[in-house]
Amino acid sequence: MVDPQGVILTIDGPAGTGKTSAATQLAARLGLEVLDTGSMYRAATLVAIEQEIDITDGGAIAQAIEQAHIGFDWTQQPPRICIGDRDVSDRIRELDVSSAVSIVSAHKAIRDVMVERQRDIATAHPGLVTEGRDQGSVVFPNATARFFLAADVGVRVKRRAHQMEEAGKPISESAIRENIESRDQIDTSRTEAPLRCPPGAIIVDTSKLSLAEVVDVLEKESRAVLDRS
Ligand code: DC
Repeated sequence: MVDPQGVILTIDGPAGTGKTSAATQLAARLGLEVLDTGSMYRAATLVAIEQEIDITDGGAIAQAIEQAHIGFDWTQQPPRICIGDRDVSDRIRELDVSSAVSIVSAHKAIRDVMVERQRDIATAHPGLVTEGRDQGSVVFPNATARFFLAADVGVRVKRRAHQMEEAGKPISESAIRENIESRDQIDTSRTEAPLRCPPGAIIVDTSKLSLAEVVDVLEKESRAVLDRS
């Protein structure tokens, strides 16, 4: 276990690189908490879908999410994401949300709300592994250690297909590929906090590694940084 005080480990990277699973297992090994910031943007997208708000209207969605009470149930490991009292952790993985989330998360008004909430969460939960697209580049540029996960697109498609099958919601590989490629394109080319490898981040190519091997690398590198600090 490490002393959680002031520790923030960030993991960024494109869809399907295994960030969520790796972050969860790394946090468990180090005795830290974990934050999946993609689920916050997915919940915001679900709010827009359910309230039938035009997904190109960032201002209207930002207003709706201010009132929607998106938050986590921290009694669960990993924490479950809720809108009000409703656990939406499974619902937000469905294709309608996945197809719209890159458009929703590109709006500055929405990112401003989410970034502030993520920093508040880090204050309330010292000792955090946080994963997303901008955690090391924008939200926590002074994090204890910053990681960037990469993987070939074919590998990422297969992983996501396997995940959806395991969840009992199989989707064709061609639909997943289309979704991942379109999200990569939007996430990397948007004006606000585009997906970038933060300068100084430790890059881990996960294409040929099992999840346990990825977590081994992250744990070793994190412990090395923590020992030095
Ligand atoms: O990690 P994920 O696939 O659940 O993320 C869903 C979307 O949310 C992703 O396409 C881009 C966006 N996102 C973001 O813009 N910034 C983050 N910190 C996390 C996710």
